[in-house]
Amino acid sequence: MKTRITELFGIQHPIIQGGMHYVGLAELAAAVSNAGGLGIITGLTQKTPELLAKEIARCREMTDKPFGVNLTFLPTVSSPDYPGYIQAIIEGGVKAVETAGNNPQKWMPLLKEHGIKVIHKCTSVRHALKAEAIGCDAVSVDGFECGGHPGEDDVPNFILLPRAAEELKIPFVASGGMADGRSLVAALALGAEGMNMGTRFIATKEAPVHEKVKQAIVAASELDTRLVMRPLRNTERVLNNAAVERLLEKEKTLGANLKFEDIIEEVAGVYPRIMQNGDMDAGAWSCGMVAGLIHDVPSCQELIDSIMGQAEQIITQRLAGFQRA
Ligand SMILES: Cc1cc2nc3c(=O)[nH]c(=O)nc-3n(C[C@H](O)[C@H](O)[C@H](O)COP(=O)(O)O)c2cc1C
Repeated sequence: MKTRITELFGIQHPIIQGGMHYVGLAELAAAVSNAGGLGIITGLTQKTPELLAKEIARCREMTDKPFGVNLTFLPTVSSPDYPGYIQAIIEGGVKAVETAGNNPQKWMPLLKEHGIKVIHKCTSVRHALKAEAIGCDAVSVDGFECGGHPGEDDVPNFILLPRAAEELKIPFVASGGMADGRSLVAALALGAEGMNMGTRFIATKEAPVHEKVKQAIVAASELDTRLVMRPLRNTERVLNNAAVERLLEKEKTLGANLKFEDIIEEVAGVYPRIMQNGDMDAGAWSCGMVAGLIHDVPSCQELIDSIMGQAEQIITQRLAGFQRA
């Protein structure tokens, strides 16, 4: 399939694997890229720029296809070494960066100077327009359904994507709730040029996470996610578990007085314990409502092949059939 997204990133299929903390390691990024999508290494999971450089080199050993790096710009006071991470990306010859969080404007000249394509993740049309104005090549439009941070506007993709299509000139991918060929065709119909998936890629053979994480996603229904940290205006969609119930209880009890320190036990430093050790109640971890559509753990090649096969079948048979009738 050829879209402005496949052309932009030099990939075969318009499918991107979004950056995911402690999931987006070289194994997953390489598997997605080898299957014809765009795999993404999660920059900040690597504790230092030197470690990111090693991860990029490791990925390069596993694939000769294009892959990207996610840089999440956190709203924290003590900022990670972003110049160092960007240097590692440039020196590693990576040509695609997925930015997220705060506005990446400050880093755009450096990235552009080195021919790096930038796709910024946004949860609203106004942020997408801002990304376009500062020179991003594409945006990833994350609807309310998404795993991770859906923002504070709560607009689902059935509205957000066509609104983005009305306003944007640069191409965009649909993100949040995407799982299969039906999602891809729907995303294209609503104006996107491809799709970005997070949760679906965790439940794959190559995702370097504990088996219990994959099984939790397969077992979950679309009713099993919760929104946490809304009182802090840092809303995150997570899979419900004992820690999340504790966290929500604190939010209810403390109301407007809630501070980050009150919930630190449920959210800080929990990712390695969950993703690597399979300690499933260690804390709150991002997961999309799309878990309800995930029933198996295929390889990335099987997943992407089945998405493209199903999409083609829907376009040429189901939709074309309506035309003929
Ligand atoms: C476990 C997990 C960790 C994530 N970590 C990050 C991250 O570090 N940076 C980021 O920009 N997005 C992160 N995301 C968001 C994904 O890149 C993607 O935008 C989102 O999962 C799309 O929604 P979906 O899960 O419905 O496919 C994460 C998502 C999940 C499920």
